[in-house]
Amino acid sequence: MSIFRKKPLELILAEAEDGNKLKRYLSTANLTAVGIGAVIGAGIFVLTGTAAAEHAGPSLAFSFIISALGCLFAGLCYAEFASTIPVAGSAYTYGYATMGELPAWIIGWDLILEYLFGAATVSVGWSGYVVSLLKDLGIHLPAKICNSPIVYENGTWQYTGALINFPAVFVIVLMSVLLIIGIKESARFNNIVVLLKIAVILLFIGFGISYIDPANWTPFVPENQGSWGKFGFSGILAGAGVVFFAYVGFDAVSTASQEAKNPQRSMPRAILYTLLICTILYIAVSLVLTGIVNYKALNVPAPIAVAIDSVGKSLQWLQILIKLGAIAGLSSVVLVLLYGQSRIFYTMSNDGLLWKSFSKTHPKYRTPYITSIVVGIVAVLLAGLFPIGILGHMVSIGTLLAFIIVSVGIIIMRRKEPDLPRAFRTPWVPVVPILSVLICLGIMLSLPIDTWIRLIAWMIIGFVIYFTYGKKHSKVKHASS
Ligand code: ALA
Repeated sequence: MSIFRKKPLELILAEAEDGNKLKRYLSTANLTAVGIGAVIGAGIFVLTGTAAAEHAGPSLAFSFIISALGCLFAGLCYAEFASTIPVAGSAYTYGYATMGELPAWIIGWDLILEYLFGAATVSVGWSGYVVSLLKDLGIHLPAKICNSPIVYENGTWQYTGALINFPAVFVIVLMSVLLIIGIKESARFNNIVVLLKIAVILLFIGFGISYIDPANWTPFVPENQGSWGKFGFSGILAGAGVVFFAYVGFDAVSTASQEAKNPQRSMPRAILYTLLICTILYIAVSLVLTGIVNYKALNVPAPIAVAIDSVGKSLQWLQILIKLGAIAGLSSVVLVLLYGQSRIFYTMSNDGLLWKSFSKTHPKYRTPYITSIVVGIVAVLLAGLFPIGILGHMVSIGTLLAFIIVSVGIIIMRRKEPDLPRAFRTPWVPVVPILSVLICLGIMLSLPIDTWIRLIAWMIIGFVIYFTYGKKHSKVKHASS
């Protein structure tokens, strides 16, 4: 059937080489920085507190380990794909080569939730930290212009009285401009910010460790309070669902394939280095955080700041640094997610599944500027209007779905293309992909039903666009007819 036509691998690889208008600039270290740039953000700086206070307590460290395992297994699958098919479309292209056009479209459409919605979510977290830092400096922004005008409470959409979340809009515009100006400049900015945010996190761990009071860790796994997800073992699982967001973005490395100097070798390495570094930092932060202050006090937008406050005046100097680090760190997440989104649209448009202008590159900057502008406008609308919780859940469910499809894709590719040269092979296939599917599905099931309904609605919109536009304009279709 035509909706399952596949894009031949030779064609994908040849097009990526011949038609590559993007600059090959990124090394393994740069790519790892792209990964860390996308990963360390609102998850650790904002959501950790809620996850500890409402679900897992000190055992949040276990939640981080469970989510990391899901990401590791999915990451091993991504790494094989990224080393075999190193082109800009990431999971979308892998789907096109192994499962066919409609599944590829489904992944591409789903990835919008991860990247575009992800950028909007993090920009809302950015806004929270900026407002708080300005307040410390004596500047009070009016609440009307730094909150979401729309919230979803008790099953209904409500108007909050705010006009727009202006700081969130501001950071999206700023990062979009940076992306249009160029990959080289963006990578440089990203490298600096990544170093800064790792430094801030290490400072927190290094200075915080001596303030740990073991009494805060007892009991390490608080007893379940009678309902699912409220502490105990189910609380660890529910916590894993919340902090999964903290790992979202490591796969953004794979969207940079066409700008990598030696993608076959550096892609899998960068993906795995990113996951390893972030997991270690997250576990350490969650242990120090819940060791310094009782987990019940952490249900706040800036939990790390609360922990520092709780030790008295001695660490006050760190407070402002942490906020600055968080603001810089969240900016780089927004940057890399917007970057990934524009590269996925670029590839989908090259395949004819999206409008041609999405793959037009700027004559001077050689970046896909039209797609960056369109992505920027949609992200501005989401960031300016919606709260972090709703956006964040959409990001997690969309990403988990993509991970599941990619993991299944590895099993299919091993059967269909057993002899294809692979610079990196996922170990223990099919065990690793199956574990990835099971863990990701488990985390998806811990998300609210409303999020599932929104995912289905989003997918229906995607189907309408595919059947009215993409299917007719597909280049693979025209090449084969
Ligand atoms: N993982 C990214 C964050 O936590 C999306 O901000």
